[in-house]
Amino acid sequence: MTKYKSQGDKTRQSSKKTIRFGLIGTGMMAQEHIRNLKLIPNVEITSIMDPVDTSLDWAKQSLGDQSQKVTVHHNLDTMIDQASSDLDAVIIASPNHTHHDILLPLLKTDLHILCEKPLCTTILDAKDIVERVKNRKAVFWVGMEYRYMLPVAEFIDDIRKKKIGRLTRLSIIEHRFPFLKKVGDWNRFNRNSGGTMVEKCCHFFDLMRYITQSEPVRVFCSGGVDVNHLDERYNGEIPDIIDNSYSVVDFDNGIRVMLDLCMFAEGSEEQEELIAIGDKAKLSVTIPSGVKTLSHRVPVDAPKRIERQHVSVDADVLAAGSHHGATYYQLDSFIKAIRKEGTTEVTAEDGLKAIAMGVAAEISAREKRVVTIKEVFA
Ligand SMILES: NC(=O)c1ccc[n+]([C@@H]2O[C@H](COP(=O)([O-])OP(=O)(O)OC[C@H]3O[C@@H](n4cnc5c(N)ncnc54)[C@H](O)[C@@H]3O)[C@@H](O)[C@H]2O)c1
Repeated sequence: MTKYKSQGDKTRQSSKKTIRFGLIGTGMMAQEHIRNLKLIPNVEITSIMDPVDTSLDWAKQSLGDQSQKVTVHHNLDTMIDQASSDLDAVIIASPNHTHHDILLPLLKTDLHILCEKPLCTTILDAKDIVERVKNRKAVFWVGMEYRYMLPVAEFIDDIRKKKIGRLTRLSIIEHRFPFLKKVGDWNRFNRNSGGTMVEKCCHFFDLMRYITQSEPVRVFCSGGVDVNHLDERYNGEIPDIIDNSYSVVDFDNGIRVMLDLCMFAEGSEEQEELIAIGDKAKLSVTIPSGVKTLSHRVPVDAPKRIERQHVSVDADVLAAGSHHGATYYQLDSFIKAIRKEGTTEVTAEDGLKAIAMGVAAEISAREKRVVTIKEVFA
């Protein structure tokens, strides 16, 4: 992963071929992609698609002057028909339950694809996509961008460098605001989102696999809807999404991992905290403060040995999104893979495995029992 490019880099890169992007689904997350793509040199947004006019208008506003040149589509067929003349890559930022059907025709093209997380809402659909992606030459990337938050990336780097010795435990805490309102309120129901443990927590399940460099064996999740959405009704229907949970995941290399999610903690100063403990030290990082703390093990009566560091993120990159710069760095890496200056870092297989962990957690919370990964794949 590279750090933010300065204006100097923009000039240096000006000889590169322009990559033409299309956006499928132009709601909230697409605006974040637009703002970040505008920061990257030799990239142009040439085409946008959404069935809803207000979302298309939102994208045009975010595009500013560039909106004059963009082709607007209300359906995928016309966008694909025209793709050979105006597109190199697409970003799918439509609701979770639409990803599979949108991917089917796109995977028959040679477009580079970044599909927002979660890859799909079910293991069956995600498995189907993994099969279809095989033997495809173009880049296929799943938008699991928490790997790309700089403080998190540096935290992972320290673990890889064995600053804590041998990793034995990992905790991930997210204490945040409730789910935002979405176009058509799709995120209020498990059937559309896959459930909170898939929709939201696939990011954290992906981080767990990425950090432990191992595969999950079993999941226990205690979770439910306790505070949010209780008074909401959509055509008389009550939302069924989890708003808080504790999950414990055992990995096959013996590392124990914990996820603490609370979505009615918007008053919290920090939104995420990751804590890794090894046989030599404890390492933590907090977002948004970006403070990384390494606490060495010392004899009980000896003075504490603590090293603190602030990991900063460029102000333009921070301002372009609400994911602490992650969208920018992820897009930068996706574009490098397209240019063959890098490789695909978050594969369809990664997308599938994160969903499997989320599905296991959803079943575990509902049925109040331990669920094995083998079981959800059976
Ligand atoms: N990476 C992240 O951290 C992150 C953050 C937020 C959202 N997301 C993901 O981005 C995707 C979009 O979420 P959002 O928050 O922007 O939702 P949103 O509701 O704000 O936007 C979704 C848009 O997709 C459009 N749409 C609906 N059906 C469509 C179809 N068949 N084809 C094309 N467009 C369609 C809707 O009209 C809407 O404009 C979801 O998959 C979500 O999980 C990822």
